[in-house]
Amino acid sequence: MERLQKVIANSGLTSRRKAEELINSGKVLVNGKIASLGMKVNDSDIIMVNGEVLEKNEKKVYYMLNKPRGVISSASDEKNRKTVVSLIDTDIRIYPIGRLDYDTTGLLLLTNDGELANILMHPKNEVEKTYIAKIEGNLTPQEFYSLKKGIMIEDRKVIPTRLKVRKTTIDSQIIEISIIEGRNHIIKKIFAVLGHSVSKLKRESYAFLSLGNLKSGE
Ligand code: URA
Repeated sequence: MERLQKVIANSGLTSRRKAEELINSGKVLVNGKIASLGMKVNDSDIIMVNGEVLEKNEKKVYYMLNKPRGVISSASDEKNRKTVVSLIDTDIRIYPIGRLDYDTTGLLLLTNDGELANILMHPKNEVEKTYIAKIEGNLTPQEFYSLKKGIMIEDRKVIPTRLKVRKTTIDSQIIEISIIEGRNHIIKKIFAVLGHSVSKLKRESYAFLSLGNLKSGE
């Protein structure tokens, strides 16, 4: 909730002082009723000034979250699970740009800027994402080579822009993989085709942004 004169001023229509004058002279309606100075309004209230609906000039906000495990990448959830939006302290209605699975951790952007979200998610803009995947078993040299050359996932080839084995143990491997794909569960699908399940997955970077020191949940 914000004071009406502030909302009018923030819209760029007029100054705060002029907005107060307009309210005092009965030229402002909120949901069809004459407004009073100091009253508070929320996003869904319809404000009319001098007979015209006020276009709210909402400021754009951008958050980078290090998503923890067990949190859903949406603004709300019908099963009442914790959402990424609930981790961010803001009154502005924000949503995640794309999704990370419930059990995937790492870099997720949230915003109220629909235009930017569309640009980043559109395949033609080829935004690169880097993931660190812990897989069960080890990739054979042949599997590594075929992954490097590109793997068919549902009739479309995914060619990693970068691929590196970070660590190998007897029964697992840590793989760094960068792709420009945005399809759901894409990393798990890639390794599933090669016969390896992904036991941990983290997104380390998105476009030119990296997690850096951002801790889980921050
Ligand atoms: N690929 C996956 O399999 N899961 C994610 O959360 C992101 C990419």
